[in-house]
Amino acid sequence: MSGAERIRAALGARSYEVVAGPGVLADAGREMRALGPVRRAFVVTDALVGPLHAAALVRSLSDSGIAAPVVTVEPGEGTKSFAGLERLCDSLLDLQIERGDWIVALGGGVVGDLAGFAAGVLKRGTPYVQCPTTLLAQVDSSVGGKTAINARQGKNLIGLFHQPRLVLADTATLDTLPQRHMTAGFAEVVKYGLMGDAQFFSWLETHGAAALAAPGPERQYAIAHSIRTKARVVALDEREDGIRALLNLGHTFGHALEAESGFSDRLLHGEAVAIGMVLAFQLSEALGHCAAGTAARVAGFLRQCGLPTSPRAIFPEGTTAEPLMAHMRHDKKNRGGRITLILARGAGEAFADATVPEDAILKVLARALAP
Ligand SMILES: NC(=O)c1ccc[n+]([C@@H]2O[C@H](COP(=O)([O-])OP(=O)(O)OC[C@H]3O[C@@H](n4cnc5c(N)ncnc54)[C@H](O)[C@@H]3O)[C@@H](O)[C@H]2O)c1
Ligand SMILES: [Zn+2]
Repeated sequence: MSGAERIRAALGARSYEVVAGPGVLADAGREMRALGPVRRAFVVTDALVGPLHAAALVRSLSDSGIAAPVVTVEPGEGTKSFAGLERLCDSLLDLQIERGDWIVALGGGVVGDLAGFAAGVLKRGTPYVQCPTTLLAQVDSSVGGKTAINARQGKNLIGLFHQPRLVLADTATLDTLPQRHMTAGFAEVVKYGLMGDAQFFSWLETHGAAALAAPGPERQYAIAHSIRTKARVVALDEREDGIRALLNLGHTFGHALEAESGFSDRLLHGEAVAIGMVLAFQLSEALGHCAAGTAARVAGFLRQCGLPTSPRAIFPEGTTAEPLMAHMRHDKKNRGGRITLILARGAGEAFADATVPEDAILKVLARALAP
């Protein structure tokens, strides 16, 4: 496929390729055939994405002699639940999924996480392919093999590592993605720059608006560069024992904001990450880790992209620092009761810190929430 890039996630025996570019779904059959005999591929998608993009995928699979039944789930985070998992596994078992069959996840991070998890547990492990259709899923969730459902106690608490055999990021599918989701996903692109790539962040300051606005070379570069970064980090640290944790820049604050807003449409994940990254830089400044003005530079750029940068707007009825702090104390990354935060010495220089005093965090939160 012309214009597509191939990026390798080097994970030993579990290595795979990410193919990113416009129209790559039309190559799905040929790409999967090249990986071995595939008898049937169960396409798992949601009720919004299916009608828009399943036909191209199914046609390609059928043309390669792969039967492709489609299983449709409800769109939305609620589907990433025990009930949603049960329904999906039921459907796949009713259709008599067996050895030699594959699963193909077509959709955003919700479909990818749920179908990936089902693939991980069905028949003690079924091969699967990620076909991400949101910007967030293309640059982040489809690569790296983290799969999960949510529990009553919190997000992504039940899951497993199950690497896909192939990722097909068809950037043309983004043409139908609502702008708000596109912008939210862009926060994860910016994250890669702020985390460890000052040069990429500078590039985004110049070309990010073009990448967001329309398909073209800037968007292709931003997506492919993000995938390369994610693939590299995952290859270095598949199980998140070290450097992979840096991908959580902005996420500890972000998850607290998402939890406090009830994981509702009021605040999309990427929007929470944008605010969280600003808070992480404000805290880094307050602790003397990075130069004054860095947080303002980060916030200025995110605002220009159309992302929220302050928690105030999210809680018009007002909230205080303490409930957010309570959510942060429950973060998955915490060990032995200490909050681990990703801070930064500058744009592109993130590091993990498990020694941040709670009162410093509270102070930054209180200032950000003050009317
Ligand atoms: N596994 C990981 O490493 C990882 C990383 C980050 C996020 N996640 C998870 O990803 C999920 C969020 O993913 P998301 O932001 O992609 O949300 P999503 O999957 O809910 O998709 C957002 C919305 O856009 C619709 N949609 C998707 N693609 C479309 C398209 N091309 N055209 C029109 N509509 C489209 C969906 O139906 C949905 O309504 C969260 O559950 C989060 O926990 C996982
Ligand atoms: Zn994220």
